[in-house]
Amino acid sequence: MKKTIAVLPGDGIGPEIIRQAVKVLDAVAARYSHGFIYRYADVGASAIDRTGDPYPAATHEVCMTSDSVLFGAIGDPKYDNDPTAKVRPEQGLLRMRKALGLFANIRPVKPYPSLLSASPLKDDIVGGADFIVVRELTGGMYFGEPRGRNEAGDKAFDTCVYSRAEIERVAEVAFSYAARRHGRVTLVDKANVLATSRLWRETVKALHEEKYSDMQLDFLFVDNAAMKMVSNPRDFDVILTENMFGDILSDLAGVINGSIGLLPSASSGAERSLYEPIHGSFPQAAGKDIANPVATILSAAMMLEDAFGLAEEGAAVRRACEYAIASGVCTPDIIPGSRYGTEQTGDFIARRIGEE
Ligand code: IPM
Ligand code: MN
Repeated sequence: MKKTIAVLPGDGIGPEIIRQAVKVLDAVAARYSHGFIYRYADVGASAIDRTGDPYPAATHEVCMTSDSVLFGAIGDPKYDNDPTAKVRPEQGLLRMRKALGLFANIRPVKPYPSLLSASPLKDDIVGGADFIVVRELTGGMYFGEPRGRNEAGDKAFDTCVYSRAEIERVAEVAFSYAARRHGRVTLVDKANVLATSRLWRETVKALHEEKYSDMQLDFLFVDNAAMKMVSNPRDFDVILTENMFGDILSDLAGVINGSIGLLPSASSGAERSLYEPIHGSFPQAAGKDIANPVATILSAAMMLEDAFGLAEEGAAVRRACEYAIASGVCTPDIIPGSRYGTEQTGDFIARRIGEE
């Protein structure tokens, strides 16, 4: 199979973790006789430095004309500490998600048996947890208008907007995942306070009654969901939620796995798809060869499976990651005192795919 992949390393640890995922994709191509063509493009702070724009038109063009997109990370402290910056790296990611129509972000969470002790939570709480977060990705407070400041500059506002159609299309995605899993969707919202959340509840309930009544639908307020996620994570199968809640809850889910550096994600829309680790650009670690590449490698595995239909290849990548972790070959975030860095972890996983 021949596929072109837009590769957007981005900022901070982005380039080094992406390098490992590409190594692994190359190993898959060699082992299973595929041809992957990588088309590199800029996004985020590195794109601002080069072009003044965090999502240049040339990058958009590369994404639109490739079969899928692999993305590293975005963000730079020089902008985080400057609230007056007019152009911010994160705008690149948000514009890219919107422009590519990536309205559903899938974040699977399942701790590795050999890593239960890496979680600060007790083994008997996290053991057996296995759920996915379906996060709406192109609406809500991230995009709502109006946003900004009043004229005096002493008041700021963001707007949370959702339409029934936006809710329905992402709810469809959640039910379709639930149908392949344990048939349980939990809608997480704040319907006791927010009008948008009440529209979410009404819409998802109606869709459930109309098309998916064979599945179970539960509702949780987001504050309660946060507590349940770390006290009873086994209770969840598919969590469906809006953009901002999904952002916050999925970082929290990283605690269950033991490291946010292990969690991949798939962002998809009607036409295009993009695969990205859920973590950020971790600037303190950039260039130090300590960043965990597994989340990005597993994102590439999701690309193989979901975007290209290469189930066997995706499974091989997962097994190789599990083997590395069980063998203690991974970065210090999950193997305390580990002598294996980002590159060696990537090498080990890539080699395993060729050898298996
Ligand atoms: C994520 C990130 C982004 C988000 C940032 C970098 C804009 O935190 O993918 O979860 O908030 O969506
Ligand atoms: Mn986030």
